Amino acid sequence: MKVLIATEKPFAPVASKAIAEVIEEAGMTPVFLEKYASKDELLAAVGDADALIIRSDKVDNDVLNAANKLKIVVRAGAGYDNVDLDSATNHGVSVQNTPGQNSNAVAELVFGMAVMAIRNMFNGTSGTELKDKTLGIQAFGQVGRNVARIAKGFGMEITALDPYCPDEAMEQAGVKPVHSVEDLYRNNQVVSIHIPATAETRGSIGKDLLLLMPKNGLVINTARKEVIDEAGLAEALRERTDLKYVADVAPDSAAEMKAEFGDRVFFTPKKMGAQTAEANINAGIAAAKQVVAFLKDGVDRFRVNK
Ligand code: 3PG
Repeated sequence: MKVLIATEKPFAPVASKAIAEVIEEAGMTPVFLEKYASKDELLAAVGDADALIIRSDKVDNDVLNAANKLKIVVRAGAGYDNVDLDSATNHGVSVQNTPGQNSNAVAELVFGMAVMAIRNMFNGTSGTELKDKTLGIQAFGQVGRNVARIAKGFGMEITALDPYCPDEAMEQAGVKPVHSVEDLYRNNQVVSIHIPATAETRGSIGKDLLLLMPKNGLVINTARKEVIDEAGLAEALRERTDLKYVADVAPDSAAEMKAEFGDRVFFTPKKMGAQTAEANINAGIAAAKQVVAFLKDGVDRFRVNK
């Protein structure tokens, strides 16, 4: 059986080696398609694959149509907005993710970018500190929980918004629950976004919310660019020259924003929240094990499509 590992943004070599070992030990054949430049390469490679492991790689109806033998797609990571779930269901393909496996890496990047932003992009001028600042975590999932854990070490006051998480779970983690997105933005100097991109969340963070933020507000987005209303973000940054926006998921208008707002915005050149050896090993091995468990024993525990 062929397991295709298609990663436009490859795993660390140490992780690729470990993934291959898990697949080979199960008597299957790992095939790597890394840094591919066109969708055609993926369409050709997936033709005879029984299983597919991906990262943010797009698996749309064309890919699923080309994949004649495919039974399972595992997204080595959390977000699966890059996979056409309905089409996968129609093709009889299980789609799974590996929740939690790369979340510490993303959470650590939040603080790397937070310190950089409040120290004025390390330009040598006097900045501020995270200690005693208020932090609002938008969604208390695996990444949000890691962000809270690290924020405690910085001495921040932490609140979180998550309609799907009981207040008690936040309270047990030393986090104050809030119940409206307006309150989250109104009461926190730093807001860290961890919501998935869904029909409900797309474009949901815009001018009105951003203008509620206290003076010197900082928004950190390591989630998805789609959750931001980019025109609204630009308007808010124009109107409030004290606001800053840093993101691991660069907006489509990154170049224009950089030109207009300079060091008040920062974007990583490529999404790198989960780009650590540890995250790649954790998520990659989990994905390989899930493929093996599904193909051998039909284990479908992490399935995300119907
Ligand atoms: C995720 O959803 O797991 C993260 O956004 C990481 O994505 P990546 O594997 O493309 O880096």
